[in-house]
Amino acid sequence: MNASIPIRFDPPSTPVIAAPPVQEEILSDAERGALLAEIRQRMQAQDAVLIAHYYTSADLQDLAEATGGCVSDSLEMARFGHRHKARTLLVAGVRFMGETAKILNPEKRVLMPTLEAECSLDLSCPTDAFSAFCDQHPDREVVVYANTSAEVKARADWMVTSGLAVRLVKALHEQGKRLIWAPDRHLGGYVQSVTGADMLIWKGSCVVHDAFQAEALAQMKLAYPQAAVLVHPESPAPVIALADVVGSTTQLLNAVRDLPNPQFIIATDNGMFHKMHQVAPGKQLLEAPTAALGTSCGSCAHCPWMAMNGLRNLAAVLRQGNNEIVLDTQLMDRARLSIQRMLSFAASI
Ligand code: 13P
Ligand code: SF4
Repeated sequence: MNASIPIRFDPPSTPVIAAPPVQEEILSDAERGALLAEIRQRMQAQDAVLIAHYYTSADLQDLAEATGGCVSDSLEMARFGHRHKARTLLVAGVRFMGETAKILNPEKRVLMPTLEAECSLDLSCPTDAFSAFCDQHPDREVVVYANTSAEVKARADWMVTSGLAVRLVKALHEQGKRLIWAPDRHLGGYVQSVTGADMLIWKGSCVVHDAFQAEALAQMKLAYPQAAVLVHPESPAPVIALADVVGSTTQLLNAVRDLPNPQFIIATDNGMFHKMHQVAPGKQLLEAPTAALGTSCGSCAHCPWMAMNGLRNLAAVLRQGNNEIVLDTQLMDRARLSIQRMLSFAASI
């Protein structure tokens, strides 16, 4: 961001979960080249395909695309793994993404570069506490965001991704349903404000998006009058209120590609900038301000758990066959129902 713009900050919100420090993988060209050659050879030998989220490193994204895999949002990662014929799915992202791939493909081997890659939304929704909460409200349908554990998905009636949340909740509201929503309070609040649905909202949040600063963003908009502001709905309501486009990672990517603006201020993980630069090479992409600019850096607009994925641990997992996602069959059967209901809903609209 332009250093000459004066920045004021909103009072810091208390994070639900403390984030570990962001530690990016740093490779020399020689090490990168050697790892890429080894990974490609082992992927072929093991009939494996790489599925990477937009927030992972440029190295992983480029490798996924160069080897016939995919780089996408969490919904498309699940769909791609289901469609692809490879026997092994390598999921570069956070654990719920690996679990969703396994639940939809129980016959396949699902490996992750690390099993330590958590998500603060998932961590902020422990199964026992959430289940007890649902038990207190048996008259409500339970809708959970994709960023949850397999156990929480198994307790839910519906799983939904950010790309579909508004449409699904609107449809349920029109059927007269009252809802429980978990775990993201900001996405839940946004969906409620757009749909008018009756929702009890769990108080989880994302450490990355929670840190975006509305007041500083408003000043940045003044400094860049031609810029469109793109916001992921895991951000706080005052940040969403300043957005020209609110949407999932793919919806924000499409906005950068399709809108005529020469500049974009983007409130989501900065790992997305790699793909955004590819689809709109002439456009200027600016990070929306976070607490990192004036106070301590909670996230620096980058997910510390996504950053745990790299070429080194991907190569290691292919060498050793470790970090496999293993889930109880009955648990998967129950969790699959809520995921498949969303996939059927997505196919029907
Ligand atoms: P998407 O479903 O939009 O890819 O978001 C996943 C995520 O973890 C956002 O922080
Ligand atoms: Fe979870 Fe936030 Fe990281 Fe997305 S960016 S995986 S919501 S902690």
